Amino acid sequence: MNVQKIIIDTDPGIDDAMAIFFAGLSNKLDLVALTSVFGNVTLDNATRNAMVLAEILEQNIPVSRGFPKPLVQTPNPVSDYVHGDEGFGDIPARTPNAKEINIPADKYICELINANVGEIILCPVGPLTNIAMALRYDPTIVSKVKSVVIMGGGVFSGGNVTDFAEANIWNDPHAADEVFSADWEVTVIGLDVTQKVICAHTEFSALVNKAPIIGGFLEQATDFYIKFYKEAAGINGCQMHDPITVIATIYPELFTYEYHPIEVCLEPSKIGETRISKDNNRRLAKVAVEVDVDAVKKIFFDTIKTGF
Ligand code: BDR
Ligand code: CA
Repeated sequence: MNVQKIIIDTDPGIDDAMAIFFAGLSNKLDLVALTSVFGNVTLDNATRNAMVLAEILEQNIPVSRGFPKPLVQTPNPVSDYVHGDEGFGDIPARTPNAKEINIPADKYICELINANVGEIILCPVGPLTNIAMALRYDPTIVSKVKSVVIMGGGVFSGGNVTDFAEANIWNDPHAADEVFSADWEVTVIGLDVTQKVICAHTEFSALVNKAPIIGGFLEQATDFYIKFYKEAAGINGCQMHDPITVIATIYPELFTYEYHPIEVCLEPSKIGETRISKDNNRRLAKVAVEVDVDAVKKIFFDTIKTGF
């Protein structure tokens, strides 16, 4: 069986935790590294949380610290109302035993891609600051990475922070536009599909017997996350943004796509909007527009149940 190498660039975050647990447990993925970025939580907490998740998985996954703030704009506040004060709902903070590695995320991403030409899928599920900085540091990575599969935007759906902007793009629109304008293969797993995949708390509760530690962690964290969705959107469950994006790296056939050049609006009125660009020099991105909801949910829960 082919095992796909993946780097997850992340701001953990409850759905980030789902994505990282999925990647760590899937026998189709080799989780080469986690790189941290500000977003749902501060950079310090994102880096700590990434190390905590690696420790819960009992895997020696290198964690590299990324950027603390966006390239240009003033930072937005953290999303504690969505992910809790520390990032995992009401679960108290804990200090990991492991240490982060001593190379910053943008340089580490380039180092790993150069050492594994054509083999790595880069999977950002937070603001795109580290990815834009990696592109600036070593532009040759565009032809050396296998592809970039991004959780971000909503080309047809509109936003979730404003009417126009999705949270990851909203948190660093300038970085996102640099990433969409680069000449590499990009798949966009945006709100167009992630908002369609909703899981109820009972589905997480059902994990606890099978995988008490990992399932138990998700059951506890999603209690908070699902309360947010209930209050904010009247939904009886949570949207599975980040895990669905990781699933798309190995099950692309579960999605249908349109191909468009994508740009990010940098004007104040609609800042952070991801939209189809009129610039024909931009490479076409593969924009997911439909998803097989039952299939991705089954793959997610079946994989988490193989944990402990
Ligand atoms: C995205 O924003 C963050 O809150 C989530 O972790 C996800 O990556 C959804 O808009
Ligand atoms: Ca995230």
